[in-house]
Amino acid sequence: MINRLPLPLAKYYVVFGLGMLLVCLVIAFSFACLRSEPTPYVWHLPPGFPEPPVPPDNPMTVEKVELGRHLFYEKQLSGNGLQSCASCHQQELAFTDGVAMPVGSTGQVVNRNSMSLVNVAYSSHFTWAHNGLANLEQQILIPLFNEQPVEMGLTGAQERVLAALASDKQYQALFAKAFPEAKSITMDNVVKALACFVRSIVSFRSAFDRYAYYGDDSALSEQALEGLALFMSERLECRHCHSGFNFADTSQHASEKGEPDAFHVTGLYYPLGSSLQPQLQSVLAGIEVDRGLYHVSGVETDKDRFRAPSLRNIAVTAPYMHDGSIQSLEEVLDFYSSAGRPAIYDGFGDGRLHPHKSLFIKGFSLTEAEKAALMAFFLSLTDNDVLSEARWSQPRND
Ligand code: HEC
Ligand code: HEC
Repeated sequence: MINRLPLPLAKYYVVFGLGMLLVCLVIAFSFACLRSEPTPYVWHLPPGFPEPPVPPDNPMTVEKVELGRHLFYEKQLSGNGLQSCASCHQQELAFTDGVAMPVGSTGQVVNRNSMSLVNVAYSSHFTWAHNGLANLEQQILIPLFNEQPVEMGLTGAQERVLAALASDKQYQALFAKAFPEAKSITMDNVVKALACFVRSIVSFRSAFDRYAYYGDDSALSEQALEGLALFMSERLECRHCHSGFNFADTSQHASEKGEPDAFHVTGLYYPLGSSLQPQLQSVLAGIEVDRGLYHVSGVETDKDRFRAPSLRNIAVTAPYMHDGSIQSLEEVLDFYSSAGRPAIYDGFGDGRLHPHKSLFIKGFSLTEAEKAALMAFFLSLTDNDVLSEARWSQPRND
């Protein structure tokens, strides 16, 4: 026998139950709206062009890229509150800074030239001479926390910076959208968002790209085409190290895995001891001569080996080389023509005689017309969209 409730009471239970159900649905719905699924990122690539590799634990989303953009331009992210990533990586200069060596947040000179970030998403190696950084997430820890030299100078200031971000209404909203699962703002997520933003700076819209990837035969002038042919020639050998779609032998796309032979001695200089470069002594007090990959590997034959950087937007990224010691592209051509550089500092040997110099740096002579053709080719690598497009620019704070 089932015990029946008196009818009026049963009705009351049904109405109450339905009411509760409705309340639950409304709560669940508002949570779903607040914690909406992040929007997958769409790459803007030439037709059929492969996407860059992305680490599985930091997929690209529109929300993370947007948060990363704010953080990239955020001065609070530095020890002194005066410097952001953009201080050394300015959009209009293809994310370089126009100086030979930048100054970090403690006023200390960073002994290397700021690198362009365009298409760095495709890089298999990062910085001028490092073979142990697996991805951008690892690389970005260096400018944030490095102490020798100091760049952003976050070491010791981390708690203060995270608290500042957590008390800012705009960042509360941006972090909630980018990391809906996270309970608080963490440095790990700051780095992930920055990596997503930097990874998004991908662009293939230079005159060279229109010619090479969009089938526009008229995009390059006769002169630029002649320059391209020279660049690819056996006489100049540029393509051996500046190869592929980024003109760097350390680029890979999502379906590629490989360990290219990425570090080269170009004969830029040949330090004989570990003495300071005398001309730079006053500014670089305490900094040793830069021996490239050797600082990371400790292998004697890695001394003075550096990565061939991408040549995209090369016309706007002067001065050149890891130490910013070459001012113009004409001088870069002179440097390669003479198969390296004679001793420019006291106590240095002749760069051209460096025992580990690459066999591809063997010198050549160029006519004025050939030089002009190479310059026209370099200019064709400038992508004005990436230098000016709003989505990579400083966000308005509203
Ligand atoms: C004080 C100037 C300075 C600041 C600030 C700075 N960078 Fe850099 N960046 C450099 C220099 C110099 C290099 C080359 C470092 C090396 O070779 O050791 C570099 C290299 C890089 C690279 C590697 C590029 C490549 O092609 O391998 C990335 C990525 C990068 N920086 C991102 C950032 C981000 C993100 C921030 C902000 C968190 C930042 N940087 C802040 C100067 C700076
Ligand atoms: C053996 C490999 C190799 C060859 C061949 C080579 N390069 Fe390079 N290139 C490099 C490396 C490595 C660097 C960085 C050197 C440094 O900073 O110490 C570099 C730097 C450059 C830079 C400066 C990039 C910047 O952002 O500062 C330009 C421009 C350049 N090369 C153009 C050329 C041209 C043009 C040729 C052919 C005439 C050529 N390279 C041949 C390896 C090579």
